[in-house]
Amino acid sequence: HDLRGANTLGLPSRADRFVAPASHAELMAAISLARERQWPLTLLGGGSNLILDERLAGLIVQPVFAKWWLEEGGAETVRVHVEAGMDWHTLVMALVERDLWGIENLALIPGHCGAAPIQNIGAYGVELAEVLEAVHLVHLDNGHEEVLGVSDCAFGYRDSIFKGKLDGRVAITRLVLRLSRRPRPRLDYGDLASRLGLAPSAREIAEAVCRVRREKLPDPSQLGNAGSFFKNPLVCAEKARALLRENPDLPHFAQGDGRVKLAAGWLIDRCGLKGHREGAFGVHDRQALVLVHHGGGNARGLLDFAHTIAARVYRRFGVKLEREPRLVGVDEPA
Ligand code: EPU
Repeated sequence: HDLRGANTLGLPSRADRFVAPASHAELMAAISLARERQWPLTLLGGGSNLILDERLAGLIVQPVFAKWWLEEGGAETVRVHVEAGMDWHTLVMALVERDLWGIENLALIPGHCGAAPIQNIGAYGVELAEVLEAVHLVHLDNGHEEVLGVSDCAFGYRDSIFKGKLDGRVAITRLVLRLSRRPRPRLDYGDLASRLGLAPSAREIAEAVCRVRREKLPDPSQLGNAGSFFKNPLVCAEKARALLRENPDLPHFAQGDGRVKLAAGWLIDRCGLKGHREGAFGVHDRQALVLVHHGGGNARGLLDFAHTIAARVYRRFGVKLEREPRLVGVDEPA
């Protein structure tokens, strides 16, 4: 099965076996079949945060069941249940249309709902964990179903238990979000507020977020990419002070724990690498944190390119950049 169209980087990839369950029952059947045959099973969502190897062994499973419904939760809040295969942005737009608040800042993030908790998607000052109530999942080794509350998910910046202890061990089947009927605009990030009127609706905020994203981020249907390729690095206060002495305009955000988050895009940009291209891969010319695939490359080539970018940043600033998209079938580079 050809997966080139199933990953937003557009990397060439073939799966030995592929199934796209259209119901929870079909997913359960695929999980037990893989167990019976002893095939390693890999879950695929929208493919927007993955680096796929050229050939994937075992069984690749992409849940496409995508129902969603509301459950009244009192005067002010509403529970939203959404199945794993639902497109995230379509859900955001359906909810802002109903004047529900909480995920309007997360508009236009590509991918399926089931994958959203894995990296705790976040943008414009909001993270999924803030509105998530529970995650329904199935354990791949025994088929047992479980519901994790948000406090069980070990959420952090671009991080969760699904990247840690449960990595590769579960299929997420459903999310439960808690949204507000009362306006709760979150406009503190960047120039979002200046693009909006005084009392914007959730839908107007989502539309403004879409405009900002379209200005900076490449559309994966036009140019292969996986959004931010690196995480924004966290450094200790002392390291941040030293860097700021040399680079007074370095964007920096103090964290509660004394560490300081730096803008990886700025560091790459400042190395003169924005728009830099080597063969099949390049640094996006409007947002240096995004690596793009011009076609003709593969996973290995992308990781080599990323390594040269990270090495340049390290040489210049002494800051290590960590990759954000996850590897599937590809060995972690030494
Ligand atoms: N910057 C530059 N040059 C660049 C890119 C950025 O100087 O080429 C500077 C900007 O001027 C700004 C700072 O770096 O001062 C931060 O840039 P921006 O606000 O664009 O956000 P980011 O830190 O680059 C993060 C997320 C994005 C998210 C935006 C908005 C990560 C890894 N990335 O990017 O998430 O959309 O904030 O909240 O945390 C993603 O994860 O795929 C993603 C797109």
